[in-house]
Amino acid sequence: MNSMPQLVEIVEVGPRDGLQNERVRIATATKVHFVKALAEAGLRRIEVSSFVHPKAIPQLADAEQVFAGLTELGQCRLSALVPNEKGLERALVAHVSEIAVFTAATDTFVRHNIHESLSESLVHFGPIVTRAIGLGIRVRGYVSTVFGCPYEGKVSPQQGIAVVRSLLDMGCAEVSIGDTIGVATPGDVARWLDRARAAGLPFERLALHFHDTRGTALANVLIGLQQGITVFDSSAGGLGGCPYAPGASGNLATEDLVYALHGMGYDTGVDLDKLVEASNVIANKIDHLLPSRYFQAARVTPCLPA
Ligand code: HMG
Ligand code: MG
Repeated sequence: MNSMPQLVEIVEVGPRDGLQNERVRIATATKVHFVKALAEAGLRRIEVSSFVHPKAIPQLADAEQVFAGLTELGQCRLSALVPNEKGLERALVAHVSEIAVFTAATDTFVRHNIHESLSESLVHFGPIVTRAIGLGIRVRGYVSTVFGCPYEGKVSPQQGIAVVRSLLDMGCAEVSIGDTIGVATPGDVARWLDRARAAGLPFERLALHFHDTRGTALANVLIGLQQGITVFDSSAGGLGGCPYAPGASGNLATEDLVYALHGMGYDTGVDLDKLVEASNVIANKIDHLLPSRYFQAARVTPCLPA
């Protein structure tokens, strides 16, 4: 463990990836309160919303209003998903300083998600990334379905690696590797990262994004750490799980990630008690329990005996 890095960066995606799956419509003021509470808990990178088509993701149709309520968050970097030129225009009007473009390792998933082929997506995102960078906006890229696809099944490491490379070459500062349906095991992650290293991908520009559908997300993070990855995406409370939609589970819970990392001696800058308070803002508004194990334990036993 000595060779492991000591600082781990968490990208909090609960307000975007988490809320986009929630059935109950959350009020704009509650979203603003949630993001502020996450910043107060020490999270320094928060994905706030998406400038996607409001019919595609109705829950995030108020992206402009949420950003308007978040003008003074100090050191915190706030970002949003942008699917096309129209989304970039909306992000610019909202004064967003960091955006994320998104595609996938599999063609069928991209067609369902943004209504174009994988290769078309790489062509259409090029000018968007270039324009954003020219305006001083940091751009993250996402590659979904890297470990498995709901339409195409198994995905080879080469497929994802090629798409990651395209996004990096395009100018994305960082690319997040997505296990969209939570199928990856630690063995899969180790093999994927071995292949990525052999292919020459720069690990300092990669992040890992695990959904916890099959309970392997935290173990997968440990493999990432061992291999030198220092940026991980997670969602407060494990938000995003839909009890009636198999395969649509939430991201790895930020509380569970932070608890494990702190116990291993890593620094995340996050205050766990305040993070639980932040998750509580949403827990009281949705129609199911938040899946985070730490969050549930903290509600029963607020602090561990000394
Ligand atoms: P489309 O219908 O093919 O768009 O949607 P279009 O270009 O044909 O335009 C149709 C109409 O939509 C036009 O309006 C446009 O102006 C409007 P009209 O002229 O008919 O009145 N329009 C927009 N309106 C508002 N904002 C926009 C926008 N774009 C067009 N940005 C589109 C294509 C990409 C827009 C749509 O499919 C979409 O919004 N998809 C987003 C889906 C999404 O958000 N998915 C979830 C995020 S990805 C994810 O969760 C994975 C991740 O977490 C990683 C992982 O876990 O793997 C990141
Ligand atoms: Mg996701």
